[in-house]
Amino acid sequence: MAGELTVLIMAAGHGTRMRSSLPKVLHPVCGRPMVEWVIEAARQAGAGRVVCITRPGEGVDEHLQATGAEVEIAPQTEGEGTGSAVLAARTAIERAGTVVVLSGDHPLVSPELISGLVSEHEEAEAAATLLTTEELDPAGYGRVVRGADGDVERIVETKHEGDATPEELAIREINIGSYAFAASDLLEALDQVGEDRGERYLTNVFPVLREAGRTLAAHRTEDVRSAMGVNTRADLIGIDALARRQLIERHATNGVAFTAPATVAIDATVEIGQDTTIAAGVTLTGTTKIGENATIGPQATIADSQIGHDATVLHAVLTEAEVGPGATVGPFAYLRPGARLEENAKVGTFVEVKNSTIGAGAKVPHLSYVGDADIGEGANLGASSITANYDGREKHRTTIGRGVRTGVHTSLVAPVDVGDGAYTGAGSVIRKNVPGGALSYSDAKQRTIEGYSKPPAQEERPE
Ligand code: UD1
Ligand code: MG
Repeated sequence: MAGELTVLIMAAGHGTRMRSSLPKVLHPVCGRPMVEWVIEAARQAGAGRVVCITRPGEGVDEHLQATGAEVEIAPQTEGEGTGSAVLAARTAIERAGTVVVLSGDHPLVSPELISGLVSEHEEAEAAATLLTTEELDPAGYGRVVRGADGDVERIVETKHEGDATPEELAIREINIGSYAFAASDLLEALDQVGEDRGERYLTNVFPVLREAGRTLAAHRTEDVRSAMGVNTRADLIGIDALARRQLIERHATNGVAFTAPATVAIDATVEIGQDTTIAAGVTLTGTTKIGENATIGPQATIADSQIGHDATVLHAVLTEAEVGPGATVGPFAYLRPGARLEENAKVGTFVEVKNSTIGAGAKVPHLSYVGDADIGEGANLGASSITANYDGREKHRTTIGRGVRTGVHTSLVAPVDVGDGAYTGAGSVIRKNVPGGALSYSDAKQRTIEGYSKPPAQEERPE
């Protein structure tokens, strides 16, 4: 390949047909914004430079900067349309040899297709090479009009009614919006392209180059995924489903078991270890990492959390939580940010944990709230033990030592410490520190009032 490959990604324009406050190319596919998929594909295809064309004020450049994407930004400050987009990158590409132009709204464009496009373009010594396909419903795409010699003559846009004749609309071959150009030919041709309904179309460089006698090459691809573009949220549904299936198959190939894959959603950023089982109704998002031999689901929603090997998470919601090796969560548990379960700990049924550590082997089995607490190794909180962590103004911590046993309905009014091996009695309100090894209970005397109600006599009972 001659020199370093430069890839331009057109990512400006809000995309009004998405009907969204978010710019089109930031809409996620499997949790990752479309434009990031395209950047990744360009990198994998060996791009030395990736230049993203963005519109100032839309938020795409800010997003790319915030996520640390190693791309150059070319702001599109004037003109509308894909032609104006490329012109915005003039200084970035004028010294390049081959430049690949990709659309930011084709998230599943494959690296193989991009490399193939470049080789074909360079072998043909073409001024421009475009990719086409006949494998998709052509509605909404630009149609490829070929001359009598079979060569590409021009591309007819079909966005607006009346743009194309019925004969042109009947053409099945579409422009997929990925191209390779000789940079100097591209810029020269674009300077001669006028505006159409206020837009300068990149596709209009083809007739200009053809008239100038330059070599145009076209390659029909059967790679449907690469060809699929997003202009509406409905388009996104199909692409998201394909990407999701592809991701699940990749995890399955790496040794993950899926018992009901059609009901599972996994972000592209998630990692899962071998021999882990993902059951029905599981959603894994963000930076979630799951170890080996874990069992997740049925029914679990896990965001930005770490799950250790051999852990079990069943019917639970986890956000920014950490579940140690062999620990069990659920059914019906809620782990909020900062919840940390050490090895073999247990958080059971109807338990909420926030900003707390549950020590190795410790158990919180039933109906508890644990907030801002440190629970020692091997402790066991009786059913309905609650940390009262908030006094109405500030949050305070509760410390529970190793091997502590709290009785059912223990209220731990923070700040409070319960020492190693201590016990609390059922129904206690613990407001003062409990020394290690002690039994502490708050004594509310039981009073019994006899004859308070009269049990109905046998014969008075209704049939
Ligand atoms: C474009 C092609 C069409 C092709 C289709 C494939 C043109 C004129 N038409 O149509 O032939 O079949 O893609 O999906 O190129 N963009 C900018 N700046 C702009 C306008 C658009 O950067 O001023 C970016 C968009 O963010 C988008 C890409 O260019 O990622 C394509 O723009 P879009 O408006 O979606 O073009 P289509 O109508 O889909
Ligand atoms: Mg489009």
